[in-house]
Amino acid sequence: MHQVFEQLARHHVVPVLELPDEKPALEVMQALVAGELPVAEVTLRSAAALPALQAMSAAFQDVLLGAGTVSSADEVDAAVAAGAQFVVTPGLNPSVISRCFSKNIPVIPGVCTPSDVETARTYNLNILKFFPAEAAGGVAMLDALAGPYKDLKFVPTGGIGPGNLLDYISCRNVLACGGSWMVKKHLIETGDFDEVTRLTREARRLLARMEAA
Ligand code: 3PG
Repeated sequence: MHQVFEQLARHHVVPVLELPDEKPALEVMQALVAGELPVAEVTLRSAAALPALQAMSAAFQDVLLGAGTVSSADEVDAAVAAGAQFVVTPGLNPSVISRCFSKNIPVIPGVCTPSDVETARTYNLNILKFFPAEAAGGVAMLDALAGPYKDLKFVPTGGIGPGNLLDYISCRNVLACGGSWMVKKHLIETGDFDEVTRLTREARRLLARMEAA
């Protein structure tokens, strides 16, 4: 397994960030690090995403940074140039997958049906984002997919939070969960980085309790 995927599996959770502007980027990352979750997927949903990725990758040596909502080959180039170490997409986008392969950058494309899964397998991809997780059947769907697709691991994202995180993480075919609950927009906009750390620590505590059981 690529070392990026190994790191994601160790962290269990990937905070999904949408930054309104680039200013709070370093403070958000610092808050995640303080909560012992040195990883983030910065979604390319605002003009701030690429400069934020650049600033974060320059300032933090030991964090794992990905680019999310990547929807074109040009965005792959821009994200990698800004320091992204992996790429996440909402759906199965052949041009994004091909560019990631040619740049040797790990890609986690979004799927939500068996047909998507089988298309992804034609690219020899065996780690896929399950999106939008809750809306597309949640844990029951993941469990159903584990039957025919025993070699696949998923990163479910969409609708996950402290209340259902352990249900997802306990699935045999889940590598890690994505979610924005600890980096919600209002926390970033109001500069409530202590709350980002508190929510991150809470997630870590939940996971530690599960690991100890
Ligand atoms: C994503 O952007 O990948 C998901 O929408 C994040 O979902 P969440 O906000 O429900 O965690």
